[in-house]
Amino acid sequence: MSSGIRFDAVSVAYGKNVVLDRLDLTVEPGEVMALLGPSGSGKTTALRVVAGFVKPASGRVFIGDRDVTALPPYQRGIGMVVQSYALFPHLRVEDNVAFGLKAQKADRAGIPARVAEALEMTGMASYARRHPRELSGGQQQRVAIARALAIRPGVLLLDEPLSALDAQLRSGMLAELARLHRELPDVSILYVTHDQVEALTLADRIAVMDKARLQDCGTPQELYRRPRTEFTASFVGNANLLPVEVGPGGVRFDGIELTVDTGSLSAGTTATLCVRPHLVGLGEGPNALRGTVGEVQWRGSTHRLYVDVAGGRHRVKADVRELRETPALGSDVVLHFAAEDAVLLGAGVSGG
Ligand SMILES: Nc1ncnc2c1ncn2[C@@H]1O[C@H](COP(=O)(O)OP(=O)(O)O)[C@@H](O)[C@H]1O
Ligand SMILES: [Mg+2]
Repeated sequence: MSSGIRFDAVSVAYGKNVVLDRLDLTVEPGEVMALLGPSGSGKTTALRVVAGFVKPASGRVFIGDRDVTALPPYQRGIGMVVQSYALFPHLRVEDNVAFGLKAQKADRAGIPARVAEALEMTGMASYARRHPRELSGGQQQRVAIARALAIRPGVLLLDEPLSALDAQLRSGMLAELARLHRELPDVSILYVTHDQVEALTLADRIAVMDKARLQDCGTPQELYRRPRTEFTASFVGNANLLPVEVGPGGVRFDGIELTVDTGSLSAGTTATLCVRPHLVGLGEGPNALRGTVGEVQWRGSTHRLYVDVAGGRHRVKADVRELRETPALGSDVVLHFAAEDAVLLGAGVSGG
């Protein structure tokens, strides 16, 4: 059974503090939607509204075509996984996984098979008799996922499910989640994270949240290549943002003419030039920016250079590959970028 999720102008407030401000968002059946944003932006609140643990002050929530706004959590047909696993410590793995089925008053005789199926899917079949304390963090999180899947939910809600795991486990689990989604193509997934890599890797679309509001929504490629707001540009991919003045054939930055596509922006207006650090080259080229090296970080395959331009009023990040010599701090360098690698954000849409 496939069912999407729809937020229709959903607002949540605690006292006078609005923590979710008229959220409109649709997760299509079978889609993975990441809710991406910094801590405190309202992501968990949005997810808990779908689960039924938070009641909106206004607006409606739909699962499939059903308005579930007034429905208690256990009648919504959702599976949920949170960062802290939240397993019952006194119950064996199999009983943890069976918990939701029993609570749902599922047919008793069918429960063992459903538990076995869910444990199989998460690679935990051989741990059925253990207690949570006898498992690693990654294994506990698999059990939590098995428990969420056992009820065969139409909608799976994941709230920072990997953030308690160390980096290596995290990337393994990320691949596991992608595989699970391929095995369960009808399940709609709402995946809350503050980690852009998780969102870019897993999601069909990303909804970017900041300050209780939806800032942007699109496929990972759209958001990365054509961000619509400064917030998206810097939060997803850490773009360089430079204030520019739009001219007839390009833009002017600190008295220098740069060639970029100005689209529908009119000459004389101000805009923000957005270029990704890995698309900024070192050395002479088109759209050259002169500056001095303020900081260098070696990151294995790249050097991240921080170059102070425009008399030190702006700092440009450049990720440069295969540098034979690390430029000295304070040395003069030239950076450049291709016109097609820059995006201009007009004043009307930037800032969010
Ligand atoms: N039960 C609550 N009572 C009061 N404020 C809350 C409650 N839950 C969340 N908040 C506030 O709502 C805002 C959004 O929280 P949350 O949705 O958890 O953000 P995120 O998951 O993006 O980090 C935060 O400022 C948080 O302090
Ligand atoms: Mg949260």
